[in-house]
Amino acid sequence: MAKSTLKSIPVSQDEIIDLQIEAMAYDNAAIARYKDFVIFVDRGAPGDLVQAQITTLRPNYARAKILEIKKSDLDYRIEPLCKIFKVCGGCQWQHLRYEKQLEQKDLLLKSIFSKLNLESDVLKSIIGVDDPWHYRNKVQFPVRTIRETGRLKAGYFEWHSNELVNVKHCPIQNNLFDEIVETVRELAPKYKIIAYDGKNKTGWLRHICVRMGENTKEALLTLVGVNENLSKSQEFANEIMEKYPKLVGVCININTNTTNVIYGDKTKVIKGKGYFFEEINGLKFKISATSFFQVNTKQTIKLLNVIEEMIDDRDAPSGRLYHGVLDAYCGVGLFSLSLAKYTEKIIGIEEVKQSIEDAKSSAKENNINNVRFINGKVENKIEDLVKVEDPEIVVLDPPRIGCNKKILQNIIESKIKKIIYVSCNPSTLCRDLEILCRGVPVVRPFEIKSIQPIDMFPHSYHIECVVLLER
Ligand SMILES: C[S@@+](CC[C@H](N)C(=O)[O-])C[C@H]1O[C@@H](n2cnc3c(N)ncnc32)[C@H](O)[C@@H]1O
Repeated sequence: MAKSTLKSIPVSQDEIIDLQIEAMAYDNAAIARYKDFVIFVDRGAPGDLVQAQITTLRPNYARAKILEIKKSDLDYRIEPLCKIFKVCGGCQWQHLRYEKQLEQKDLLLKSIFSKLNLESDVLKSIIGVDDPWHYRNKVQFPVRTIRETGRLKAGYFEWHSNELVNVKHCPIQNNLFDEIVETVRELAPKYKIIAYDGKNKTGWLRHICVRMGENTKEALLTLVGVNENLSKSQEFANEIMEKYPKLVGVCININTNTTNVIYGDKTKVIKGKGYFFEEINGLKFKISATSFFQVNTKQTIKLLNVIEEMIDDRDAPSGRLYHGVLDAYCGVGLFSLSLAKYTEKIIGIEEVKQSIEDAKSSAKENNINNVRFINGKVENKIEDLVKVEDPEIVVLDPPRIGCNKKILQNIIESKIKKIIYVSCNPSTLCRDLEILCRGVPVVRPFEIKSIQPIDMFPHSYHIECVVLLER
């Protein structure tokens, strides 16, 4: 793009310029300004003075890659612990001191939520972790086969690329995962496990997934393949389970989708169990191979503390208890079972059938009798549920896309008094909060009482927030 055609853009494609980095972006990049024009600098850090080259030009912003760091602020920039951080797309902020990651997440949230005109004490400071390493209790690596050796490559993709990085050691996940994935790589030629090639429709394996209950030490290995025909799967499972006694099961999940969704609907247990247990605050949760569970177990306890403080029973109608709570997007029932003690009844809604089965089974296991779990989409169930069950509180914990508008509308028009909205995407959260606080004529809108961010994902730009809304 020539400079002269777009007068307001002060840089051109491939141009090399010096940039002073100001802050982190909600991304892989940091923000710099060149003559007031925003430039996202990949893997920059606040305080950096860099020589950078423009890689992408858009009417409102550009992206640039660093050619040379001329000066950096050592309060911010540190040497990443991970040796492959520069190429791996798994985390984005490892080059930032952990305290500064928290500071930058706070600043980002301030900026994202600025349009909500919040009172000054509503947005709280983020709750950090005690130890930002080895926290992930799940790994889901895509794979490729190296043609010359028949060995597998498994890891994360480079940022916004199809280039797979063979991750041998990942310092943000449980150490055992490195070993188990390496063993799958080693065993692949022996058991003729070949990576699926979507272009040529050859091969079999799509993902290697390992999960672990951090408190129970039970691990589960799932190979996601295009069908269930792995000829020596039994022998493979015997060999790997013998090597790793913490593995309670080996499964094959069959995924024939052409999208990048990791799991298909069907899972076959090859050996052992198709699930593992995790224990949180004295409750036992059954988690099947494809069921969602929070990835950072230690922070999950802090997350539950925040939710419990918000649910507080001081204005409950029947003394200590609420009449009803809805847990929308309930997964395996983490919130439902944890909050059951505050209410006469709690109803969880979740679209994944296996997760609902897990939740029901955990309710039994923990002797909790005032919960009910419903399989279906929240948008299809909530209208009737709020009418029939008359809950005072709804807990929302949607995926990154946030809540469908119809759900928010149903809540606004219901008698629900309190919403606890848990979100892993501040942008869609902000959009949904605006709708809930706008309300509709004759119905009182919700007010945001507090927003508590929690760092569930150290070294990445992702931010979890818990919001309390009341009316
Ligand atoms: C962020 S997870 C939260 C799970 C649970 N609250 C927890 O903390 O473990 C979102 C869950 O919503 C489910 N889900 C996604 N879209 C849904 C929809 N439209 N209706 C019902 N469940 C949905 C997913 O399967 C996933 O289990």
